Amino acid sequence: MAVYMPEPYRIKMVEPLRVTTREEREEAIRRSHYNLFGLKSDQVYIDMLTDSGTGAMSDRQWAAVMMGDESYAGSRSYHRLMEVCHALFGWKYFQPVHQGRAAEKVLFPNLLKPGQVSISNMHFDTTAGHVVLCGAKPVNCVVPQALDSTSRFPFKGNMDNARLTELIGQFGRDRVGMIVITVTCNSAGGQPVSLANIRETADIASQHGIPLVIDAARFAENALFIKEREEGQSGSTIREIVRQMFASADAFTFSAKKDGIVNMGGLVAVREDGGLIEGVRRYVVPNEGFLSYGGLSGRDMEALAVGLEEGVDESFLRSYTGQTRYLVDRMVEEGIPCQQPAGGHAVFVDARQLLPHIPYDRFPAHALCVEVYREAGIRGCDVGSFMLDPDPETGAQPQAAMEFARFCIPRRTYTQAHLDYVVASILRVKERAGVLRGYRIVKAEKILRHFTAQLEPDA
Ligand code: F0G
Repeated sequence: MAVYMPEPYRIKMVEPLRVTTREEREEAIRRSHYNLFGLKSDQVYIDMLTDSGTGAMSDRQWAAVMMGDESYAGSRSYHRLMEVCHALFGWKYFQPVHQGRAAEKVLFPNLLKPGQVSISNMHFDTTAGHVVLCGAKPVNCVVPQALDSTSRFPFKGNMDNARLTELIGQFGRDRVGMIVITVTCNSAGGQPVSLANIRETADIASQHGIPLVIDAARFAENALFIKEREEGQSGSTIREIVRQMFASADAFTFSAKKDGIVNMGGLVAVREDGGLIEGVRRYVVPNEGFLSYGGLSGRDMEALAVGLEEGVDESFLRSYTGQTRYLVDRMVEEGIPCQQPAGGHAVFVDARQLLPHIPYDRFPAHALCVEVYREAGIRGCDVGSFMLDPDPETGAQPQAAMEFARFCIPRRTYTQAHLDYVVASILRVKERAGVLRGYRIVKAEKILRHFTAQLEPDA
């Protein structure tokens, strides 16, 4: 039976939620052209669109906000953040930026030239977007177990290192601009990457002289999974595991809106000297702002300095990943197919299994999310073919390896009763799954289209 672990915190401030009627939701989703990003937040009851920037800050973080030093240059808050980063990761250079994609924007042009490829376990959508903006091509190389939602392989985010070596051989070393390890692997279901796998990838990268980048958005969750699941790691602390995870990469990008537990923020980090940090700084000043704030206010940097420490607290991590495990276990008990075992930040419902009659180019995971919104005011999002932009050369709709409907758990935000309501609502949708229809895109941008695309239900 699914077990819910009591939270290691209590509630000090609340934000009222509005319950909408089905008629209101029908009207709202029609007006937003069947795109869940188009809804107003007060049309949503439980918002599981993302775990990014949507968590609750602690009393210590709010107290730190009041200590923000808003000096344009040399802010005390910047130096405080740098101290926390040095102590946690042990690297030499950290550059604040306003969020994860800003880190991608200022780092990737230093590593990728037009015509090159970037190889990753799986690129997140903005990461793939920035690779394409550099004129390069993203290539995913996750282990095959990730693509079988019923396999209980403990590290489904791992890079398929045999295939990585093959790909480097095929493309030729000079065409591979960078290798990216995404921890946890969001697009594969928030699935972790093992230390052994990270080390193996790092060896391959260094043998070929290819820069290794970690997309560190959910590094702390990944460290907890290593502690819980990897042989020989149960006695290590989260901080020790973090040090080992980052021991051999060249650079990392970090969306602090996840494991930094802040509403806005990010970092780029470079491990040592060698010219890369200078290249990053050259992009930061005109795009993000002066080096000692990089798009953040002093109070944001204070909140992040505290959030980074709270984010690696083991009792918090156990409770947070415990919420996800509870939700996945409850779903599986009810026969709702999900990516298993539970990953870090979200439950990923396998929409291909639940809605086998909807083809990939009619977006089964998107269809499921729209129906769950209609049913209960719960907002999830498609991590499947709808999230994939058309091929820039042919315009063809790529087919995602998995059609996931993702329901994220914002940190320290929802209770067990909310999660039970989510299970009950998805179960009601499952009972009428056979009559759900797919969606057609009627208007869309070429890059990162899923945020703004307009859709219509299939006839
Ligand atoms: N990398 C990963 C693995 C991510 O999950 C995200 C964002 C980013 C980079 C970009 O960071 O949003 O701060 O610019 N993921 C969010 C999500 C949006 O919903 O999964 P950002």
